[in-house]
Amino acid sequence: MRRWIIIIEAGEELMKKWIRNGTVVTASDTCQADVLIEGERIVAIGETLEADEAEVIDASGCYVFPGGIDPHTHLDMPFGGTVTADDFESGTRAAAFGGTTSIIDFCLTRKGESLREAIAVWHEKARGKAVIDYGFHLMIAEANDQVLEELETVVKHEGITSLKVFMAYKNVFQADDETLFKTLVRARELGALVQVHAENGDVIDYLTKQALANGQTDPIHHALTRPPEAEGEATGRAAALAALAGSQLYVVHVSCAEAVRRIAEAREKGWNVYGETCPQYLALDISALAQPDFEGAKYVWSPPLREKWHQEVLWNALKSGILQTVGSDQCSFNFKGQKELGRGDFTKIPNGGPLIEDRISVLYSDGVHAGRISLHQFVDIVSTKAAKLFGMYPRKGTIAVGSDADIVIFNPQAKRTISAETHHMRVDYNPFEGKEVVGEVVSVLSRGEFVIRDKEFVGQAGAGRFIKRATFTRP
Ligand code: URP
Ligand code: ZN
Ligand code: ZN
Repeated sequence: MRRWIIIIEAGEELMKKWIRNGTVVTASDTCQADVLIEGERIVAIGETLEADEAEVIDASGCYVFPGGIDPHTHLDMPFGGTVTADDFESGTRAAAFGGTTSIIDFCLTRKGESLREAIAVWHEKARGKAVIDYGFHLMIAEANDQVLEELETVVKHEGITSLKVFMAYKNVFQADDETLFKTLVRARELGALVQVHAENGDVIDYLTKQALANGQTDPIHHALTRPPEAEGEATGRAAALAALAGSQLYVVHVSCAEAVRRIAEAREKGWNVYGETCPQYLALDISALAQPDFEGAKYVWSPPLREKWHQEVLWNALKSGILQTVGSDQCSFNFKGQKELGRGDFTKIPNGGPLIEDRISVLYSDGVHAGRISLHQFVDIVSTKAAKLFGMYPRKGTIAVGSDADIVIFNPQAKRTISAETHHMRVDYNPFEGKEVVGEVVSVLSRGEFVIRDKEFVGQAGAGRFIKRATFTRP
């Protein structure tokens, strides 16, 4: 077991908190140690700390790990003719209950609109509402001269250092390869990380029209018209374009073996290609979409849930480092009144689901407890790697002297059952309803302040701050 050096900084006027008797876990180390917080920062980690006038927090029997970083959320987002059920208040509150202390949300843009205006709208959505810290990724709808010029300020001065291009959702968000390529080139110049929703939108559009013409309107046809090869093809294409541009690429919500293979091939060639998967692809499968009475609509994501065997491919990709992160892709719609918009036409079912709260639970229980990944890999996947890839490390994503005191106290023995009856998301179902998970978040601190204390919310709307992120460096 590693011994930690004790460093205590001055600053008597700041409130101190002393987390005692826990097991500190980072992406690389496990240590029986206390953590001393002063104000917003961690000021000491050690076996024999002394602290005057500090509030003592007993973490006996618990893990003490860095607050989760969810690199993929859609809060208060208009989509599919409606708006997500969770906004920055309910969404970040639920995230905190689940052990997440930072999110990065997708700021949408429209063709013809200045980036500055779009970003102002997203700041307004979060202001006074977020209970934990948040950053933004910026969608690139078109890569005209004005956009490419504006990106310099966005990336270098506004701390928005990741850009998102949709290769699917034809006639809604989808951008062409020219837009993707120009974005990749500009990202290389500025040090931004380009993210892609990698599915071949043109092929999906063709298959969708055929299905509807054949009267295939049920939720299952959402999945059947978005085959794994459409995701694999787009993933491989995006990786090749990133290499051609000498740039860096992060593939969001990887769902299948075909996409994992393309990412693995790119990484073997030394290309800067990274990948994220999501809890639903690790723990649910396509059979959920076939449930009767339109219940399958609850499980409509893009990319869709796959056949069960893909799950082990994704777990192995996380374990071996082909994929680096797990995002929630939080994009919640109520079953009643929202998912129901697609009765009789699966293309009208709003895509997405509520996962911001259970991301860490599912990863710990099905990952660490089930023996698929180590405790350190778990911390890396839910927190550290996202901090590194998205320009927040070591301020966030680890427990170290000088880092923000974003901390989770987690009981690895406790068991709970996931349910919409008890979750904190503002949505009328939970895709993991009835799932028993091992491990439970007990308390959560965000920059030294409790947000969750002994499983009760004690945070404040508006306490979350915008995170200005650094430009991309290879982790
Ligand atoms: O179905 C999904 N994934 N909904 C959210 C939007 C997106 O594509 O990420
Ligand atoms: Zn997407
Ligand atoms: Zn998404």
